[in-house]
Amino acid sequence: MRAVIPVLVSLAWLGACGGSSHGQPEQANRDSIQADSAALASKAFDSTVFDTITWKKEGADTARGSVVYRVSCVRCHGEDGAGVKNAVFRGDTLNVPSFLGPDWALADSPMVLRKLIFVGDSTGMPHFGIIGLHYRDVDAVARYIMKDLRAGDTKKK
Ligand code: HEC
Repeated sequence: MRAVIPVLVSLAWLGACGGSSHGQPEQANRDSIQADSAALASKAFDSTVFDTITWKKEGADTARGSVVYRVSCVRCHGEDGAGVKNAVFRGDTLNVPSFLGPDWALADSPMVLRKLIFVGDSTGMPHFGIIGLHYRDVDAVARYIMKDLRAGDTKKK
């Protein structure tokens, strides 16, 4: 009987832990996982790949970018790219910035924009380069943001 009590106590403790985190890693843990993933993606990023990408037909880039945006970005960044304040995604509260406005920091930095999409960061922006978005689609969605979203053109193509 004596041996049973500690086992029960430790099971109850494990149960309480699982319950409070809803099966997700603790916040500090998730922050460090995100930082690690961003570091990995940053190492993998090769800006010269973009020099090899060509779009043969006028508008083919933004047409593809519009699809990529709808599938991978719209749930956080919003239909028009205006961002969302205090949005809750998988238990995290995120402030998603706007791409719009004349003084947007990345407006004149097309490669920084591509790298940010590829690498993500440790505060909620996913690491698309290492979770399955090809360079061509990073290029397409960057073009879509620059050419269409920032011009207020959100129609599906
Ligand atoms: C899970 C939510 C989420 C998804 C999905 C997401 N983002 Fe983000 N994104 C964020 C957050 C949060 C930030 C702000 C990070 C920060 O404050 O450091 C951000 C920042 C950015 C920025 C930097 C903006 C700036 O002004 O500094 C760009 C560019 C961007 N995202 C592009 C994209 C693209 C393109 C996609 C789709 C391929 C995408 N994001 C998908 C959450 C998301």
